[in-house]
Amino acid sequence: MKNSLIIALDFASKQEVFQFLDRFEGESLFVKVGMELFYQEGPAIISELKEKNHQVFLDLKLHDIPNTVHKAMKGLARLGADLVNVHAAGGSEMMKAAIAGLEAGTPSGLVRPRCIAVTQLTSTSEEQMRAEQLIPVSIEESVLHYASVAQGSGMDGVVCSTWEAGKIRSELGPDFLTVTPGIRLSSDATQDQKRIATPETARLAGVSSIVVGRPITQASDPVASYKRIKEAWEGVSLT
Ligand code: C5P
Repeated sequence: MKNSLIIALDFASKQEVFQFLDRFEGESLFVKVGMELFYQEGPAIISELKEKNHQVFLDLKLHDIPNTVHKAMKGLARLGADLVNVHAAGGSEMMKAAIAGLEAGTPSGLVRPRCIAVTQLTSTSEEQMRAEQLIPVSIEESVLHYASVAQGSGMDGVVCSTWEAGKIRSELGPDFLTVTPGIRLSSDATQDQKRIATPETARLAGVSSIVVGRPITQASDPVASYKRIKEAWEGVSLT
């Protein structure tokens, strides 16, 4: 789970996904299935990816009453995803229910999927958080607070931006996962992301794993782009 480069498979159909993955010629990857793909293709997409030896982060960001999240997670645990998530804003009771649901649904003899909590979306700016969520503190304080509540509720880690990951790591320990989207090479377009960072910055901040979507999926040569980002993330010299 640590030091992974997770590719966000933000495609609308299974056909597009497998066309994209075919370019990697059998390489075992860590991929993320989000709402777009899951809502079109359903649970079968998870087992198909697992059959091809990919690790899967099922990014459905659950946020509902504890009982509903418990039941949903019980079902998701049977699908074989390696990593799932919830919104920390759902509260500690909901997060505890998520873990209990995963434990109840994991087939015996298998490890339950890791579960992380989204703190503040990387597309949210501090101004937006203050104006729309009426949270008067800095975004860093809000993320750190959510991370500490998530840890206290039994979560395995959080989704945050690279900018908060170092502090989370020093306050909550290196075993608490920090998974950061919003990764861009300095030459990439920002798109809708606001709190972005390069793979090098993420590595130096001690991030556990990075999530990269459009800089790879929409590149003219996705495999070359994946390799460049992976080398920067792993600290391999390009010269
Ligand atoms: O294309 P891009 O690299 O921006 O993709 C980032 C991925 O990470 C998207 O699938 C998005 O849903 C997801 N994500 C995010 N911010 C979060 C949690 C997940 O961008 N806080």
